[in-house]
Parts: sequence; C-alpha cells; structure tokens
Amino acid sequence: MIKNIYINNISKYNGKKVKIKGWLYSKRSSGNIIFLLVRDGTGIMQCVVLKNDVDEKVFESAQRVTQESSLIVTGNVHKEERATGGYELFINNIKILQIVSKYPITPKPHGVGYLMKNRHLWLRSKRQHAILKIRAEVIKACRDYLNKNGFINIDAPILTPAACEGTSTLFETEYFDQIAYLSQSGQLYNEAAIMSFGKVYCYGPTFRAEKSKTRRHLMEFWMIEPEMAYFDWEDNIKIQEEFVTYIVQTVLKNRRSELEIVERNLSKLEIIKPPFPKISYDEALKILKKKGKDINWGDDFGASEETIISKSFDKPVFVHHYPMKCKAFYMKPDPERPNVSLSDDLIAPEGYGEIIGGGQRIDNLELLEEKIKKHNLPREAFKWYLDLRKYGTVPHSGFGLGIERTVAWICKLKHIRETIPFPRLLYKIYP
Ligand code: 4AD
Ligand code: MG
Repeated sequence: MIKNIYINNISKYNGKKVKIKGWLYSKRSSGNIIFLLVRDGTGIMQCVVLKNDVDEKVFESAQRVTQESSLIVTGNVHKEERATGGYELFINNIKILQIVSKYPITPKPHGVGYLMKNRHLWLRSKRQHAILKIRAEVIKACRDYLNKNGFINIDAPILTPAACEGTSTLFETEYFDQIAYLSQSGQLYNEAAIMSFGKVYCYGPTFRAEKSKTRRHLMEFWMIEPEMAYFDWEDNIKIQEEFVTYIVQTVLKNRRSELEIVERNLSKLEIIKPPFPKISYDEALKILKKKGKDINWGDDFGASEETIISKSFDKPVFVHHYPMKCKAFYMKPDPERPNVSLSDDLIAPEGYGEIIGGGQRIDNLELLEEKIKKHNLPREAFKWYLDLRKYGTVPHSGFGLGIERTVAWICKLKHIRETIPFPRLLYKIYP
C-alpha cells in the first residue's frame, strides 16, 4: 500500500489501495451504506462504507464518527464522475484518532461574531479554506513577479524609532529605555536599500492603530513594498499596472476552483489587463461632484469617495497628483505645480477602493528637511534618512500593495476580516 497520499493527487492512484489521513467534514447514510466526506487539507473526498463489504467494527466506526473527528481511512480509489474531485474511496478500514463531541461550528448558519470568536476552528470550513488558499497564491504571485523582474528582497525592521505614515496611527511599545513603534511601512528602509541594490522589495506585517471600524481596515495587515532607484512616477505607475495584472491573472490560472467556491464572477477578473484608466485628483474631484459629493479641493478621499470612483470603472483606476497636504512628508511635489504631489493610489473596481499607495519620493536634501519640520517629525530619528539625500541621491519611486485589500477584491468579500487567518480588529485581539 502507498503511504502519505493527499487528496489533490488522488487521480494518480485510481484502482490502488491508499490511506488518507484527515478529519471528518460531514457524513450521510442510508441503511447499509455510509458516505464519509473526509478532508485532509488538500481536498475533500467521498469515502464509501458498505455494510456488507467491511468488518462489523469498521461499519460501527463509521456510524460513531462525528464532524471534525480525526481519522485515518484505508480504501480503494475508484473513478466516480459524480463525486467531488471525480474519485471516491471504498473503505476497508477506519482508524479513529479522536471522536469529537459537539463541534462548535455546525452546518447551520452562525453569526459572524460567533464565527470570529471561533476563528481558530472556522479556518477549517470550505469557504475560509478557499479564501486563504487564494491569499497564499496572491502572496506567491507578488514575490514571483518581483523575483523574476530583478528585485532583491530586503527585510525591513518591525520595531522602528519613527513614523512613516503619520503619527496618529502609531502603536507604541517600550524598547528598553526608549520608545519604539511597530512599523507602519518598510518604505524608508527600502529607500536606503535601493541605493545599494537598485530595485528592492520588502514584505511583512505592518501596523496601524486606526480607530476606524470599517470593512477595509485592519490594525495589523501585510504589505508588499517595491522601491526602485531611477524610476519616476510614470515608471512607477506602469510597473504597478503590470504587477496587479500578474497577480490577478495568476490567481485565475492557479486558483480557479477556489474562486468558484467563493462564487466569484470570473469575467470581472479576466478583463484585468493593461491599460488601466488613469485620472488626476482634479478629474476624480469632478466625478465626485457630478455624483453629488460635497468635497473641496485639498480634501482627502474617504471610503465613500473611493467607492464612487471605484464603481465608475471596470478596471482598477489610478488616481494621481493628490494635493501635497493629503500625502505623507516624503512625497515629491510636482516641479510644475508644487501644491500637488507625484503620488498615486490604485483604486480597485466593484466598490473595493484603494489597494495600492505609491509615489515618487523627495530626493532633495533641503526640501526633505523642510517637510520633516513642517510635519513636526523628530529630525534626530530621520538623520539616517536624510543621509540618503546627501550621499548620491537619485530620483526614485515605490509603492505598497495591501495583501488583504487585494484578496478582498479578488474574492469579492464583504469584509476584510476573512482575508487574513487571524484578523486584528478594533479592540478585538482574540483568538
Ligand atoms: O497608502 P499606504 O498608507 O502607503 C504606504 O504605507 C506607503 N509607505 C507604501 C509605499 O509606498 N511603500 O498603504 C499602502 C496600502 C494601502 O493601499 C492599502 O492597500 C493597505 O496598504 N493598507 C491597509 N490595509 C488594511 N488595513 C489598513 N488599516 C490599511 N492601511 C493601509
Ligand atoms: Mg494610502
């Protein structure tokens, strides 16, 4: 008998005797026949137990076994078009590792609050399983694209001495006799690294103490941040467009069955190819005013503005040239119009909103010093960052893509909380 077989490879073993190690997903029976749906992490397989063909003890085990009990089943693989996955297993033996009594998540519908408290168990459900596989594919696609295109992976620190994205959302912690903050972004460290490597990226968790309870905010989220020396803001937009296309098309290719489990309309993803529409902040403002939004030049876009822009296009749309005051201290002003920045946000369609924030960085020492002062940031903590403008400064750009926002859009989820194994939400840190 062949050992260590996984359900996703079962087609190779048609007619053979195999062992599947997993958990009971669900069960159905009719008289002398019991159907066990066994999952092993890679898939779900229908296992058939026939009273007349197995030992009495085996049939009894099949009767006793309950939802989520751990078990090892032995049987013969048979092609069966009608079964999920196209194969079923005719059982000879069942070894039960643990019988579960009263599994908290039953097939009946539960409220989200209850499911979130049981997130550690909810992960086993078919839909959550599919979403997290899509998440893993998104992360892999991000890395693959960058690795194939000459980027070097640099890891930025998580404990940092200063803010990158504004001081209002910092998580503070003690660092011996100093204060440290959990990283909001690895960008500033990427900027140091490109002066050594040219093109780099960092990938890691980032933290924002956002006092907002929305369907798109997490306190802890994962971000992939590419940074490129000698790229201007237009080069930056072009690579973002290619990057997002690669991610979406790769998920479509490799995770089609998972997209079907989450009931995604695939045609909405198939069209995600360059060119993406590109509008300036000023043009976005016109769209918003036409839709009845009372918004002044210089106001940043909130969730409701982003939703309107998002719904105005079928593809992700770039909004560029935001007013300087909407953006972080490092954003380079447009030399022809210094009150707007060489920044861009990429707004995903279908109401999803911002998935990328990026832009060209200030490369002039005096201007950067002035902005640090204007934003009331501690100069001491940024000395090293200023050095980068002293010793061989070059024009450079970069961006950050939020993994969870991207997964929420690709899966068309109502809320970001299902895109991450253990979401950290406002005031909620369990499990
Ligand atoms: O626009 P943001 O704040 O940009 C930066 O952090 C830059 N330093 C990135 C860079 O240029 N290297 O954040 C980038 C992305 C957003 O577009 C969004 O996808 C995600 O990070 N994001 C969040 N995702 C979930 N919850 C939150 N609270 C998020 N805040 C930002
Ligand atoms: Mg942003």
